[in-house]
Amino acid sequence: MLSNQRVVLTLFAYFIFASIYVEAFNSRVTQCPAFALSSIMSTRSSRYHLPVKSESPEKSQQPESLSNKDERIVGGQETTPNEFGFMAYLEVEFWNGDVAKCGGTLISERWILTAAHCTVGAVKVAVSLGAHDVSPGSTDQHRVIYNLEGAAAQSINYPGWYIGKVEDDISLIELPQDVVINQWIKPTRLPYSDDPDQVGDPVLLTGWGNYSSTPDSGLSPVLRQVGTTVISHSTCEATASQGSFSNDKIICGDGTQGRRYCYGDDGGPMNDYREDEQEWFVIGVAWFGDKTSDCQSSGKPNLYARVSSYVDWIHNQTGIPPRQRPTTTTPTTTERTTPTTPTTTTEDPNVFSCRNRENGLYPVPDVQCTKYFYYCSNGMAYLYDCPVAGTIFYYEACRCEYPANVPGCYGYVPEPFANALKRKF
Ligand SMILES: *[C@@H]1O[C@H](CO)[C@@H](O)[C@H](O)[C@H]1NC(C)=O
Ligand SMILES: *[C@@H]1O[C@H](CO)[C@@H](O)[C@H](O)[C@H]1NC(C)=O
Repeated sequence: MLSNQRVVLTLFAYFIFASIYVEAFNSRVTQCPAFALSSIMSTRSSRYHLPVKSESPEKSQQPESLSNKDERIVGGQETTPNEFGFMAYLEVEFWNGDVAKCGGTLISERWILTAAHCTVGAVKVAVSLGAHDVSPGSTDQHRVIYNLEGAAAQSINYPGWYIGKVEDDISLIELPQDVVINQWIKPTRLPYSDDPDQVGDPVLLTGWGNYSSTPDSGLSPVLRQVGTTVISHSTCEATASQGSFSNDKIICGDGTQGRRYCYGDDGGPMNDYREDEQEWFVIGVAWFGDKTSDCQSSGKPNLYARVSSYVDWIHNQTGIPPRQRPTTTTPTTTERTTPTTPTTTTEDPNVFSCRNRENGLYPVPDVQCTKYFYYCSNGMAYLYDCPVAGTIFYYEACRCEYPANVPGCYGYVPEPFANALKRKF
């Protein structure tokens, strides 16, 4: 009896406390600071995270023996599932019946950047986002597939490009609707038009292409990555055996150690993680991966379209405005947090927007107890869920907590992913 009474009393006190708290919650106007994301995600399972530099190129920079085939693949290893939320997997069917698999890069809620040779003459394109394992028996949970046919499958190809031309092998695919950005699907950044050559910079190549030539592995079912470094134009031209091409339009990655793209990696990104902005940038688009030659031991450079030369063209075609390089000398918060998302998309009042919001964490509006929360970064909204099963987002404390520890959420059972999405979007 006594213990029952105590429970009732405790619950009663709890509800009073909770309702006071709910009021405080509603009247609160500030947001969790941006750093709270990393503290929340530090208790994560490995799939929930933003990229950090130590996990990108450097780690795979140590020289490896070329004979170490298992590790080496075409130079790299499998990625953590959904680590690179901007990766698109393209299955293309051409007018003549040919089919191809290519990589692509999500550069906004609406647009995929890829290679023109992957899309010219396409009659069907299946675009997968949030994919890791693309094999038929895959248990990928976060994969979203857009099947484009006919006119919808027609990409915007860079004018003047023809099959075999090294320069300008770049194209854009428009999705039928804006994709919902979450921790598995998120656009990457376009580079600045005045970026330097980046010779010597570490970069990361990602794709589902062949990962071994002897024996022939075929395409990779899972997304793979390989770190390499940008080489000079003269070295690249001298070793690529592709005639002369412009430094402005082609960026090359070192392939002498067998760290290479291969058949099937075409159209995919050369990625550059920029520490100062803590973001990935797509600085290259893969030209033809070797179709017949031995990717592994040819030692040839990796040829990529240099995206910084195409940002104006991309702007013209998509409305994605070129970004201004943040000024590092004057670290004024107002400048850094000015939203720079394209203003072309019309805002849906039912969808949370980070436009005009400071960087940081935000609760899902009108939902009191949920494992979901938003992360605003430079005007872009990312939907996250709490990494530890059974926990929900406790906004007041800027952390994920068990419902019993979150005022007003006692006894709440976190919803499954699909339901929450149905409700919110
Ligand atoms: C890639 O794999 C395909 C399918 O097994 C094979 O036909 C092709 O020769 C391979 N290409 C390279 C360069 O390894
Ligand atoms: C962008 O569009 C303008 C106006 O149509 C045109 O003058 C300009 O050359 C275009 N720029 C690029 C890089 O395509």
